Amino acid sequence: MKTTAIIGGSGLTQIESINIIDEQLYITPYGDPSAACILGELEGQKVIFLARHGNPHTIAPHKINYRANIWALKKAGAEQIIAVAAVGGITPEMHPARIAIPTQIIDYSYGREHSFLAEDSDPVQHIDFSYPYDEALRLQLISSAKALQLDIQAGGVYGSTQGPRLETAAEISRMERDGCDLVGMTGMPEAALARELEIPYANCSVIANWAAGKTAGEITMPEIIKNLEQGMANTEQLLRHFLLHTS
Ligand code: HPA
Repeated sequence: MKTTAIIGGSGLTQIESINIIDEQLYITPYGDPSAACILGELEGQKVIFLARHGNPHTIAPHKINYRANIWALKKAGAEQIIAVAAVGGITPEMHPARIAIPTQIIDYSYGREHSFLAEDSDPVQHIDFSYPYDEALRLQLISSAKALQLDIQAGGVYGSTQGPRLETAAEISRMERDGCDLVGMTGMPEAALARELEIPYANCSVIANWAAGKTAGEITMPEIIKNLEQGMANTEQLLRHFLLHTS
């Protein structure tokens, strides 16, 4: 099996069941990654874990050094990446505590270092990004979820916003008109950077709340935390099954 890296998002700063073999804090040409890469073993498979927001969770989405993180994972030997992320649900099927494995991205973020090809001296290159997620990896995650009878949504469009504030109701209406099903703050440039380094990448979104304007009242942190606890417990099961059964 390919060496799998898991990027943990909010609600998943570590995976208890990883048998840790080593920890490596990489120095990268792009600065410091969010945390050390945990090099370990889970269900008999080599696995690398990186906490996207640091451990403890202190780095806000717009402050994450996405380039250093992806570069460090490549250096650590990652051959595929499963990116776990907390999101808001926009369309009716994307209800809180559910997991979605999206197919597409719309990027609304700005001002982030979004390419390894950014130096003036580099020859200009344009990566193909028509289908941002690796389809084989997506299908493997979906079949693990089916085997576990987990209630997941096998598709959807992830709208990646800047954060750290949540969106306005009007912004969410616009995103819905654009075709977004999910809203999160970390989907980009992470996915594009993985593509630049040719690392197959898929996203596992855990829905923490209804997006702004989709329910009466405010979006509260206790609500987000409660839904993430349930969603992340299912995600851990999903990851273990994926590692155990995917060759
Ligand atoms: N919007 C953006 N990012 C999020 C949300 C949201 O509603 N919930 C969790 N991450």
